[in-house]
Amino acid sequence: MIGQRENTKVALISGANRGIGAEVARYLRRHGYYLSLGARDISMLEKEHGAQSSTMHFGRFDAYDRNSAKEWVQSAVEHFGRIDALVNNAGNGNRLGLLDDDEDALDELLEVNVKAPLRLTRLCLPHLAKTGHGRIVNIVSMSGKRVRNEHVGYNISKFAAMGLTHTTRHVTWDQGIRVTALCPSFVKTEMSAYTSKVTPEEMTQPETIAHLVKTAIELPNNAAMAEMLVNCRLEDTL
Ligand SMILES: NC(=O)c1ccc[n+]([C@@H]2O[C@H](COP(=O)([O-])OP(=O)(O)OC[C@H]3O[C@@H](n4cnc5c(N)ncnc54)[C@H](OP(=O)(O)O)[C@@H]3O)[C@@H](O)[C@H]2O)c1
Repeated sequence: MIGQRENTKVALISGANRGIGAEVARYLRRHGYYLSLGARDISMLEKEHGAQSSTMHFGRFDAYDRNSAKEWVQSAVEHFGRIDALVNNAGNGNRLGLLDDDEDALDELLEVNVKAPLRLTRLCLPHLAKTGHGRIVNIVSMSGKRVRNEHVGYNISKFAAMGLTHTTRHVTWDQGIRVTALCPSFVKTEMSAYTSKVTPEEMTQPETIAHLVKTAIELPNNAAMAEMLVNCRLEDTL
């Protein structure tokens, strides 16, 4: 276990190898956080951040492999001795439609977007509680707030992730843990590259999401934001 500097925070980020997760990792690292990054392919993390160090830890995390979550959290705690924040970021963006008969695809969406974040939440909670100011930021989506397309599997999974967020918030409040659902509309990553509704430049930029993650982690216990709704364009429904 490494020696902790006073006020240094340890954050776990799932899906930290690309997209929003990679940007959150870069941003928190630049701001002095100690990080445990989870990814299916650790070599991508090593390529960007170099070898593991006293401030950087890597864990193999595959949402389809239940043991990987357990082993990642255990090894992060062995490395740092504490966890201050969990960022549930890894996500499956499969655009399964309402009339598509593919329950395997639906199972995959629920496994990655709902069950794995729940698993990581359960595993991290005892460590977050110990700090008295634990934080969980679930990267959900505006697709967990309203429906504007036919992607039924993704929409179901993100509404469920809202249920996870609010239940966790309810159960852990008295332990000083604050839980936030960060709900962007389009963010410029590979996941949104399919759309022509907005240009990549018009989309919310990953660095802005990283900034909001840091804000959610750093707000005091008496200024909790349960939801952060982030639009890149005006929506009539909100
Ligand atoms: N981009 C948007 O417009 C947008 C909007 C709202 C919300 N979000 C949410 O933001 C989060 C990040 O998305 P993104 O835009 O950064 O997408 P992305 O660039 O496609 O990255 C997805 C990340 O999730 C990981 N992942 C996928 N399946 C996994 C699995 N089975 N086990 C472990 N990791 C897995 C990927 O790892 P691999 O490299 O191993 O595949 C990758 O790190 C997701 O929860 C997404 O739903 C995105």
